[in-house]
Amino acid sequence: MQLSFTLVLLFSLLLLTSLHPKQAQTLSTCRDTCGTVGIKYPFGLDDGCGAPEYRNMLTCNATDLFFQTPSGLYRVRSIDYDKRTVVIFDPGMSTCNLLQPRHDFSLSDTQVLLLPPSSDSAFALLNCSADSPVLNRYKSLCSNFSGHSCDELYTSCAAFRLLRSVTGVYQPCCFTEYSTLRYMSMNILDCTHYTTVYGLDDLKGVGPVDWTYGIELSYGVPDAGCEHCERTGGTCGFNTETQGMICMCSSMMNTTRDCGKAYQLQQCLNSNSSDCGNPSGSEGRRPSPMTLFHVVILVFGLVLGNIL
Ligand SMILES: *[C@@H]1O[C@H](CO)[C@@H](O)[C@H](O)[C@H]1NC(C)=O
Ligand SMILES: *[C@@H]1O[C@H](CO)[C@@H](O)[C@H](O)[C@H]1NC(C)=O
Ligand SMILES: *[C@@H]1O[C@H](CO)[C@@H](O)[C@H](O)[C@H]1NC(C)=O
Ligand SMILES: *[C@@H]1O[C@H](CO)[C@@H](O)[C@H](O)[C@H]1NC(C)=O
Ligand SMILES: *[C@@H]1O[C@H](CO)[C@@H](O)[C@H](O)[C@H]1NC(C)=O
Repeated sequence: MQLSFTLVLLFSLLLLTSLHPKQAQTLSTCRDTCGTVGIKYPFGLDDGCGAPEYRNMLTCNATDLFFQTPSGLYRVRSIDYDKRTVVIFDPGMSTCNLLQPRHDFSLSDTQVLLLPPSSDSAFALLNCSADSPVLNRYKSLCSNFSGHSCDELYTSCAAFRLLRSVTGVYQPCCFTEYSTLRYMSMNILDCTHYTTVYGLDDLKGVGPVDWTYGIELSYGVPDAGCEHCERTGGTCGFNTETQGMICMCSSMMNTTRDCGKAYQLQQCLNSNSSDCGNPSGSEGRRPSPMTLFHVVILVFGLVLGNIL
């Protein structure tokens, strides 16, 4: 009677300790994806995540990521964290198979400083009136676009062919940079349509049907010490009041710099990894079947010894 009770008690205790739930692993309150696009520093979706400079620039509607500028919301196609570029798409612009009337594209002053259109992006102003500044005084703002001509653009695309006038001629076009649109709105430029293309290096000898339409922005990463935080397993964010950097180590812990070695080890032990860099190799997690077996034998021996 006494023996079986002790045994049951001991076994329940063993079972409980071996089944203890893994500690919650969720790192922080910051979402790290939106649809198929990964969200990392310096960007953030939730307030207090990423770098304060990029606050409120991205929004996510559960399936799609959007970039907010003074001229509208633009769908984010991709973010390349190595090249530090963001590709956005203006749903109101014309492309090879869709003709849409003029629509301004503008960035805020902060955005122009932080993430201007890259030198790999070009803006094509189409169906410009003969009085357009870019055909007269500011002719020099139009460039030779990877060897492509306006005629080629007008005639290869179903949409742009619609720009031919009743007399069968095309009005001039101009391949230019974002700064042209920044200083002269589409209204002043006097062109009725525009499109944007990126990946210029790959466009030589490629026809407009196969161009990549969109705007590539090139961003800078603020030097706030985020790398240090990330190296210790943290997620960078900022204090929404002071804008000071925060290193988020878990939903329970924020620091100002990094998550430290102890925290790193804790994270690793909580994870499935068997290589946490601790030299002794002691698992620190649930006991292996072998140790459990040993304990049972030991307990059994002790109990038996007590009885005898
Ligand atoms: C950590 O910082 C983030 C971002 O500012 C905040 O949302 C969160 O509540 C903070 N957590 C703690 C435990 O202070
Ligand atoms: C998000 O926005 C896109 C584009 O406007 C739309 O097609 C999609 O249905 C939206 N998703 C949700 C969940 O509202
Ligand atoms: C092209 O521009 C001319 C004026 O320069 C305008 O009359 C014409 O409607 C425009 N074409 C289209 C398709 O909008
Ligand atoms: C554009 O440049 C290419 C080679 O760089 C040249 O062959 C072509 O004539 C130029 N076109 C114009 C319109 O300047
Ligand atoms: C743990 O690791 C094993 C083998 O590496 C893997 O099969 C298993 O899916 C992992 N479990 C979890 C919860 O990550």
